[in-house]
Amino acid sequence: MSIPAVAVYDLSYAYPDGTEALRGITFTVEPGLAVALVGANGAGKSTLLQHLNGGLFNARQGEVRIGETVVSRKSVSLVRHAVGMVFQDSDDQLFMPTVAEDVAFGPLNAGLSSEEVERRVESALERVGMTQVRERPPYRLSAGEKRAVAIASVLAMEPEVLVMDEPSANLDPRARRRLIELLRSFGHTRIIATHDLELAVEVCSRVIVLDEGRVVADGPMVGILNDEALMEEHGLERPHILRHMHPHT
Ligand SMILES: Nc1ncnc2c1ncn2[C@@H]1O[C@H](COP(=O)(O)OP(=O)(O)O)[C@@H](O)[C@H]1O
Ligand SMILES: [Mg+2]
Repeated sequence: MSIPAVAVYDLSYAYPDGTEALRGITFTVEPGLAVALVGANGAGKSTLLQHLNGGLFNARQGEVRIGETVVSRKSVSLVRHAVGMVFQDSDDQLFMPTVAEDVAFGPLNAGLSSEEVERRVESALERVGMTQVRERPPYRLSAGEKRAVAIASVLAMEPEVLVMDEPSANLDPRARRRLIELLRSFGHTRIIATHDLELAVEVCSRVIVLDEGRVVADGPMVGILNDEALMEEHGLERPHILRHMHPHT
């Protein structure tokens, strides 16, 4: 059996003000799988994602592993190379004068040669279809372009796992459609927190439902999202596209 790409064991976390955001989360994700993380506002999605790339450390109990590496203060730089995080707000991710500099930022800091940095910038921008904006300031881009460039800046680190927080937030329909196709095309292990259940259905084969810091369902996408009682109980709606799909497919 292969080692899971991501493994979370009994993870609990409380913020310094005492808010218990995660209460005993356990799940594993096989390499290459796309998993949606859904749940009402405040369910703990963003807090969980931050634990996956060492943005937050477990304050109470439990463990997160990326491949064979246990996430800890010591392993954090290794973990951040392996796990690329696309933030909910692209403005938090892009801060350099030009797109190319933003995408080069991570590889440069990792100490790669200038040739290798340039190769990565070129390849990452091409992968997301953004080579034409490489010399533009990120703040002038549309929301869809910003999101694509933020994804490129993560791809440039060549991570094994992609973690995304609400990637379709604030995108117009065309940009959202492009994003969905892009996310479907990746071979990375993907963990995507989203309120956009239609995106989840199109990109992910599995869904984890969180409520009040606990995993309340984990399994194949269509079966869980079709469970109207479960969805309602946890503040979610059965996505519209499933209404047009045969219940047993
Ligand atoms: N910085 C913080 N300090 C204190 N509580 C927080 C902080 N960030 C989030 N929380 C709380 O932790 C819980 C989980 O929040 P979050 O992970 O943001 O949920 P989601 O992303 O599912 O909306 C909520 O009760 C939220 O109010
Ligand atoms: Mg959130």
